Amino acid sequence: MLDTDDPERGLKRSLSALDLTVFGVGVVIGTGIFVLTGQVAKTTAGPSVAIAFAIAGGVCALAALCYAEFASTVPVAGSAYTFAYASLGELPAWIIGWDLVLELALGCAVVAVGWSGYVRSLLDSVGWGLPQWLSGTSEETGFGFDLLACLLVLALTAVLVAGMKLSARVTTTVVAVKVGVVLLVIIAGAFFVTGDNYDPFIPPAQGAADSGSGWAAPLIQLVSGYQPTHFGVMGVFTAAAVVFFAFIGFDVVATAAEETRDPQRDMPRGILGSLVVCTVLYVAVSVVVTGMRKYTELTVDAPLADAFKAVGQPFWAGLISFGAAVGLTTVCMILLLGQSRVFFAMSRDGLLPRLFSRVHPRFGTPYRSTVLLGVVVAVIAGFTSIAELAELVNVGTLFAFVVVALGVLVLRRTRPDLPRAFRTPLVPVLPLVSVLASLWLMLNLPAETWLRFAVWMALGAVLYAVYGRRRSRLRKGEEPPEHPVP
Ligand code: ALA
Repeated sequence: MLDTDDPERGLKRSLSALDLTVFGVGVVIGTGIFVLTGQVAKTTAGPSVAIAFAIAGGVCALAALCYAEFASTVPVAGSAYTFAYASLGELPAWIIGWDLVLELALGCAVVAVGWSGYVRSLLDSVGWGLPQWLSGTSEETGFGFDLLACLLVLALTAVLVAGMKLSARVTTTVVAVKVGVVLLVIIAGAFFVTGDNYDPFIPPAQGAADSGSGWAAPLIQLVSGYQPTHFGVMGVFTAAAVVFFAFIGFDVVATAAEETRDPQRDMPRGILGSLVVCTVLYVAVSVVVTGMRKYTELTVDAPLADAFKAVGQPFWAGLISFGAAVGLTTVCMILLLGQSRVFFAMSRDGLLPRLFSRVHPRFGTPYRSTVLLGVVVAVIAGFTSIAELAELVNVGTLFAFVVVALGVLVLRRTRPDLPRAFRTPLVPVLPLVSVLASLWLMLNLPAETWLRFAVWMALGAVLYAVYGRRRSRLRKGEEPPEHPVP
């Protein structure tokens, strides 16, 4: 923190609430709205997916108020990992860091798969369709390889290793294109809405078509013994737990606390502002798209563009696919960048092998962690289905929300003296409600997702016990590293 007061090392405090809002919207709008809307409406909630978006937005708003305090207590550029390391200690930081790698790396894979759906839709319209087996996991056979998603991640990895950054102008242009496309869907689509498609708005509850082992059911239903797993009122919550993915990334805004002019005022305005803008857009898109086509007929790869194709508007469909592809590229890049930096920071602190924190002699980027994770993410993006991945990302992120909200409570007790540029209102009530709301969404995710998450965290615990705990700089009493994360 001392470094941030040093004029040569501190970042300029230049961001306003509006800048933060634009930044937030730029990171947040992605595969969630462009792809999951259609998938979730079709399989879990029907038109009530709009309510699911509103619920997920509310849960995020609560978490955002906790994130803002956490970030402003340690107003150093970085991620929740850095904040936790500085304020709560090594073990909670490890838990959050390990969890964040899951969120950011797999989140990137999800966005890449979403991107690939829209690029394929674009290629199809000009008659360059890819063979089925290279177009991602097939619904019938359960097998296939998503060539485009894999290539996108590899290409972005190379870009990151070379140290290319998105300039402010590129970011602003991409945000404009993305929001423009979303508005286009809402406005142009409104002319093709048929009231009948909203009937029923909340389809009656039904059991899963493939009720196989039962592990695919939400944990809350398995525990409570409630049978149906799709649609109905419970389906709205299941849907909220999945479309929550569409809000992921707003926490990245909190990491800009050091560059914010007046964090106490602007940080909550910026974070909540971007959440409000996104929630309104998401609800509007869901209402329009489920009004354009019966939810049972929505497609799962590029639902927004396909809805326009279905009403005989291939031009608008092409424009939407193009805009989506441009917008999703930057989201994918930001997530990939984020995860390589968290991995780098963990390695620099000695919690992961130090060889990953060596920077490239020419490019000055943490190339080893970037390449390792880039290749892993590319393979995952090639072979996994989007819904399963998104659920895993969500459980991890919601877990991080729980830790952060508890962290705010703990720090208020243990370090009441720390200056906080932003203070969460209504402590302890708000953080506690945030914990409960996040837990509730987690419970609405499939049991198999919990199992995968448990395996990931157990792997992390073993790694920490046999490696990180002994090798960490803190344990060895070394000085903290001098250079900030590049
Ligand atoms: N929220 C981002 C998306 O929906 C990650 O793609």
